[in-house]
Amino acid sequence: MTDRYAVIGNPVAHSKSPVIHAEFARQTAQDLTYERILAPLDHFRASVDQFRAEGGKGLNVTAPFKLDAFALSADCSERARSAQAVNTLKFDGSLIYGDNTDGVGLARDLQTNLGVTLGGSHILLMGAGGAAQGVLRPLLEARPARLFIANRTLDKAARLVQRLRDNGESKNVDVQAGSYAQLQGEGFDVVINATAASLDDTVPELPEGVFAAHALAYDMMYGKGMTPFLQLAGTQPGVRVADGLGMLVEQAAESFYLWRGVRPQTFPVIAALRSQ
Ligand code: ATR
Repeated sequence: MTDRYAVIGNPVAHSKSPVIHAEFARQTAQDLTYERILAPLDHFRASVDQFRAEGGKGLNVTAPFKLDAFALSADCSERARSAQAVNTLKFDGSLIYGDNTDGVGLARDLQTNLGVTLGGSHILLMGAGGAAQGVLRPLLEARPARLFIANRTLDKAARLVQRLRDNGESKNVDVQAGSYAQLQGEGFDVVINATAASLDDTVPELPEGVFAAHALAYDMMYGKGMTPFLQLAGTQPGVRVADGLGMLVEQAAESFYLWRGVRPQTFPVIAALRSQ
């Protein structure tokens, strides 16, 4: 029997996940369907229950339900617990298992697709909301020398850093929280924009020199073309820029692996989506 999967969110019409998973299934000869579910904002749980009752095997969870999905998971991976958010649900009999593949998706896109060496690097992570929180653990696992979390609301960044320290997740990495103004005089090899500023076509004010020579500027947003952040970075000599499309495909591949036990090839899918 054909297994059913879906992405659940609100809104969800824009999601590229059905195209990506259909391509993964074709590539690996897996018998599955993948659809979109628009869940009413106050009926996430009911929508999940209905999909399970109909025989659904797993869901990708997108905004604004990642925290609800974490709360719904009877068991979850360490990386989901660290992120306090779930983007992948797997249904095994009556058990709901939650995982978070966003961070590993970002780390793979940076290291495998874009050829960045995270080990020993100096990373600036802009933002301290759900998107930033979701990628912290895999970034730290890559053992950078330094991770600076900058946020408009300083307190939120400081709380994140404190939690990493309390959980022992920041071992051997110089982790610091600060404001954008505090970045004065600092230079980073990798600058990741995990703020929602690109949605409003703005960019937090960054002091001169934040991008080290040959830095990579990465916007976790995709489908917005050259965001103000990428435009700013692109004016700095030697700085490379990338949007979040590779991360999207890589997190999908990790979800696919969790569900099916097979790893699809991501490169052709990223290339096909880019050419569209
Ligand atoms: P998400 O799940 O997308 O991370 P979120 O949890 O609401 O959404 O977090 C949004 C992040 O983008 C926060 O870090 C927010 O900064 P504050 O904590 O100070 O609100 C950041 N952000 C949103 N708009 C921004 C802007 N115009 N300039 C700078 N930071 C912005």
